[in-house]
Amino acid sequence: MRILGIESSCDETSAAVIDSDGTLRGHVINSQQEHAAFGGVVPELASRAHMRTAVSTIRKALVDSNCDLNQIDGIAVTAGPGLVGSLLVGISIAKGIALAGKKKLVGVHHLEGHIFSTLLEHPDFEPPFLTLLVSGGHSEIIFVDTWGTYEVLGRTRDDAAGEAFDKAARMLDLLPKSGSLHGGRIIAESATNGNPAAIPFPRGLSKEDTLDFSFSGLKTALRTHIDSLSERERATLLPDIAASYEMAIVDALVAKTVKAMERREVKKVALAGGVAANSTLRRKLNQEVAARNGTLCCPSPIYCTDNAAMIAAVGRYHLMNGTQSGYDLDADPRMKL
Ligand code: KG4
Ligand code: ZN
Repeated sequence: MRILGIESSCDETSAAVIDSDGTLRGHVINSQQEHAAFGGVVPELASRAHMRTAVSTIRKALVDSNCDLNQIDGIAVTAGPGLVGSLLVGISIAKGIALAGKKKLVGVHHLEGHIFSTLLEHPDFEPPFLTLLVSGGHSEIIFVDTWGTYEVLGRTRDDAAGEAFDKAARMLDLLPKSGSLHGGRIIAESATNGNPAAIPFPRGLSKEDTLDFSFSGLKTALRTHIDSLSERERATLLPDIAASYEMAIVDALVAKTVKAMERREVKKVALAGGVAANSTLRRKLNQEVAARNGTLCCPSPIYCTDNAAMIAAVGRYHLMNGTQSGYDLDADPRMKL
């Protein structure tokens, strides 16, 4: 069985081809550039950009995979959660291909995609394990009992970790007027040579016996700190501010993840989602997991941010287990895991 995966839930148009043995044959990611001028993803622009690039993205993934549509057996497409207009573009194209070529169709949960991202490079990393799923829209600690069986142990009560990074980049006026809007990557770059202990930013819910996160207090503390500085001080102290802010997020994520390890007596941990590309998070979590005789599985950064390879991997699992969607498959912007 050979599966074509399609991802269009936010501002990445992506397509990938995976074989039944898990070999990734081809993978193309087109990150939309049109949002930078607006300082955030504009839903209608995102849908239109998916509409323009989806076919060429799929075509390129097929060419890179050295195959054509006749050799594809199933189509996996992100059905939610995400921006409804963006999801509808991917789903409509997936249905069209499935209908015309009499192929199987399966709608995929975007977060299940992130959970499966570990499988792409580490096929031996089997459940049960914990996944720290941290992206622009989600911050969750998920217990993966078996593939397909998930229990959310903790989640953010306000902003997602990626959102906290993105808002900080905006507050510090670091977002470019064109190109990528990944504020987390920009904060991480600004933090190079900064002192992560320079500013004692709060670690949300650190004293409470919960696996939930909260980043809104941190965001307010940054605002207050920025307002107390002159423009010159802001520029000079930027590496310290960025490093301290980054460390406050990383500390909170790591503390709750190791708490979950201890609570559930789990030794295996996986990182997923766009924020998992953060090297400070990868390093600190690895140290803490190893200190508890555990193992951390980190996908390469390209499989952390949104991509179709992870969607194809979920599709492969479901289709091989006989799960399929009908042609009434609809976008579900708030789809539950
Ligand atoms: O998974 P993703 O591509 O999209 C969503 O499903 O949300 O995650 C995007 C998020 C953004 O908030 C971005 O700022 C963050 O991931 N991100 C990072 C890094 N690269 C991307 N955060 C921290 N450090 C990075 N290196
Ligand atoms: Zn995502």
